Amino acid sequence: MPRKIIAGNWKMNLTVSEAQMLAQEIIVYVKNKPEPLVILCPPFPFLSALYYEISSSNVGLGAQNLHAEASGAFTGEVSAGMLVSIGCEYVIIGHSERRTHFKETDELINKKVIRALLSRLTPILCIGETLEERESGKTLERIRQQIQDDLSGVEITSGTDIIIAYEPVWAIGTGRNATPEQAEEVQSAVRQLLAERYDQSVADEISILYGGSVNADNAIPILTQPNVDGALVGGASLKPAQFKAIIDASQ
Ligand code: PGA
Repeated sequence: MPRKIIAGNWKMNLTVSEAQMLAQEIIVYVKNKPEPLVILCPPFPFLSALYYEISSSNVGLGAQNLHAEASGAFTGEVSAGMLVSIGCEYVIIGHSERRTHFKETDELINKKVIRALLSRLTPILCIGETLEERESGKTLERIRQQIQDDLSGVEITSGTDIIIAYEPVWAIGTGRNATPEQAEEVQSAVRQLLAERYDQSVADEISILYGGSVNADNAIPILTQPNVDGALVGGASLKPAQFKAIIDASQ
């Protein structure tokens, strides 16, 4: 069985004291809950401060991005080694906001996945179709292509090496979530593609999350689908009551 995971992507929000307060509230809430694994992904400048809060808890710490190169003259960028050195264990790669606003290609995303794995960071690889692709019946084609390109040359031998997040672009931050059936259809196809690429036993252990307008009201029907192993949550992860309800929905 894949591990149940609820990850909060705080994006470019909060001050450090707000981030610490929010993290504390979540740490206390999940203290005695073995499932799901909760991962918090704050902005870069708060990672160190949050590591201090998180290190003695059962909450995981993730970054929202990394650079594909190990080090060098890349002003303003953050490397995998830096993230590891401050206690980060996870990193979001290929989020649609980075694909759209920062023109990240599948080729670059592939390099970032490889860099993360080399550095022993667990990638949370985001894939998903645009509205145009869905409406023209190209959803599964796009997903297949992203899996192929983003994981090109990537060896995965254990289900815990990587986390996949299916995030339809049209559902992110729009208040328009995929239906449970739409999420299940794509996520079962993702598992099948992973089984073809690696093997069935590895694919059966990979956590495949759904992301896109998850909130306290829609979490239960989405998270109880057989191939939905958790959620990557944006807006609702900034609201403690909402995020706690989503955590409870995944148990
Ligand atoms: P949302 O964002 O929950 O605000 O739609 C999800 C994400 O960007 O990962």
